[in-house]
Amino acid sequence: MRIDILTVLPELLNGPFSASILKRAQDKGLVEIHLHNIRDYSTDRHNNVDDYQYGGGAGMVMSIEPIVTLIEKLKTERSYDEVIYLTPDGEMLEQKACNELSLKNNLMMLCGHYKGIDERIREHFITKEVSIGSYVLSGGELAAAVLSDAIIRLLPGVLNNETSALTDSFQDNLLSPPVYTRPPEFRGWKVPEVLLSGNFPKIEKWREEQALERTKSRRPDLLDE
Ligand code: ADE
Repeated sequence: MRIDILTVLPELLNGPFSASILKRAQDKGLVEIHLHNIRDYSTDRHNNVDDYQYGGGAGMVMSIEPIVTLIEKLKTERSYDEVIYLTPDGEMLEQKACNELSLKNNLMMLCGHYKGIDERIREHFITKEVSIGSYVLSGGELAAAVLSDAIIRLLPGVLNNETSALTDSFQDNLLSPPVYTRPPEFRGWKVPEVLLSGNFPKIEKWREEQALERTKSRRPDLLDE
């Protein structure tokens, strides 16, 4: 998989991709991340990438020209399965969309800033709009990092067996059951007996019950789906 991220703040994205699982996925050649600075495509003599909004009002809008120049350049080099715009008014991100996106080859992600991007970019180039929650971030970069992480960890070979994504919360519309490790007792707080029993069918049953209990109490909406 290849992910191209279009941003005015590439330095904000170096961190999330240079450690742990996301770094290993790149080192293993399972994903390529390419960061593009939109400012490099500005034709303005001050290298501006934003402008006042028509009709007046507070807040700048990201200009159409540099973004379209960059999108079109990338599209001549390969075809993209989705051109994603990260925006608080996009479709709320859920595991299902991450699963679907993890099957694609080429994804483009556009990070917005200020009041957003010129609407004509959305109309003519964006194929999918994603929000990571009902709150406003200062830009789409952290949202692009969240989306990339949620996708990349699903790529075959990224996680090993112990961390397999198949047992993650949400994969079966259930939250994960509680987990414990050594010691079996700490300050008198005991690990549930069943987990120490070695009786695997019983352990499996306990985990299923706990997952269901947890989902009922914390996210009953998942059970309605
Ligand atoms: N950009 C700003 N806020 C955002 C959000 N909640 N989700 C996605 N992109 C954003």
